[in-house]
Amino acid sequence: MNRKATRDSVVFSISDLQREASQKLSTTVREYYNEGAMDLVTVKDNTAAYDRLRLRPRVCVDVAKVDASTECFGSKVAFPLGFSPAAMHKLAHKDGECGTSRAAAKFGINMLLSQYATDSIGDVTAMGAGAGNAYGMQVCLTEDPATNTRLIRDAEAAGCKSLVITVDAPALGRRLNEYRNNFSLPKHLTFPNMGADMDHSDVVTYDPRKAYDAALTWTKIRHIAATTTMDVYLKGVQTAEDALEAVRCGVAGIIVSNHGGRQVDSAVATIDALEEIVDAVQGRIQVHIDGGIRRGSDIFKALALGADHCWVGRVPIWGLAYNGEEGVSLAIQLLYDEFATTMTLMGCTKISDIKRSHLSRMGPDGGFHKLQDLPDWSSKVAGPILDVHARL
Ligand SMILES: Cc1cc2nc3c(=O)[nH]c(=O)nc-3n(C[C@H](O)[C@H](O)[C@H](O)COP(=O)(O)O)c2cc1C
Repeated sequence: MNRKATRDSVVFSISDLQREASQKLSTTVREYYNEGAMDLVTVKDNTAAYDRLRLRPRVCVDVAKVDASTECFGSKVAFPLGFSPAAMHKLAHKDGECGTSRAAAKFGINMLLSQYATDSIGDVTAMGAGAGNAYGMQVCLTEDPATNTRLIRDAEAAGCKSLVITVDAPALGRRLNEYRNNFSLPKHLTFPNMGADMDHSDVVTYDPRKAYDAALTWTKIRHIAATTTMDVYLKGVQTAEDALEAVRCGVAGIIVSNHGGRQVDSAVATIDALEEIVDAVQGRIQVHIDGGIRRGSDIFKALALGADHCWVGRVPIWGLAYNGEEGVSLAIQLLYDEFATTMTLMGCTKISDIKRSHLSRMGPDGGFHKLQDLPDWSSKVAGPILDVHARL
């Protein structure tokens, strides 16, 4: 039968992990992590939308050897999954972002660090020294250019490969749990990447160094991209129109994201937004996705629709809350095992075997219909990614 060994006596899936982790957290922290904007329509749909896509397994393929590895930010990674930037890992467990980083480095996956992390970017990348995985720094640009510049310089100095600019946050979404629970960072924690002289527990008083830049435009993105040596990714693109603007901007890639349903409630689930974006981008820049990925088969579906890479935000937090760094390792292992098993059962031995025609979706007639494979964009679109420096 060859049933794979289990790594935990209670947690066999990310849904088990979410349940067990949530039980360990206070109501205030659990709702901060697990909930989102307004009535949580998008939070729920991000996961539900994956269930609306079905798989079309191919059989009698030699799948004795399956290679789930791929490349992201110039590093070989164990499989096409990494950690999205999510604030305040130390609220879940004292291991914090450094513990998350150690788990990522040990497994060989990449990590994006939130500017609202409770560990510094230098400490977090140091955990991966020599491991070969890559890091990215996420910034929500603030109204204070000096703060933005310092964050970017710190990320470069820490060896980050990419700068991830969050573009879906000109303002904070209305997160009702935060009002209800009067949520803020506890006094014993800080945001070391943001500056020691700020009161981070005060989330209400106006301070330009903390205020999201509501006037962020494509012009500003071009300017920022031209001032850094890191590859720039835009996180929070949700439409084909903006994906095309991103291509014109000359960034290295986009992350199709709705912030895990924490910004605009009722935004389209990311897996539903992905298809029009992949079709518009036509392979010219990297297209990544996050939001609602809870199973290896979800990663498979995102890749089949045309994503180059997937990220998860809440999963490592639940891992931390369950059992610190070991809990994060358990989460990665579960998703890896599920993804490799899905590849095997789908008749795919390598990432490039995964195609849109592995999926079917319900049509207006109520029947399930096979999706059409994508064209080979590499033969259609000439030239490398546009050079942003040359465009200024
Ligand atoms: C607790 C929490 C904090 C987050 N903080 C940030 C952040 O600081 N910056 C950011 O760009 N996205 C942030 N996000 C969004 C994540 O990067 C990611 O888009 C989202 O979690 C993906 O959805 P998932 O949790 O379903 O995987 C946060 C998400 C959560 C759950």
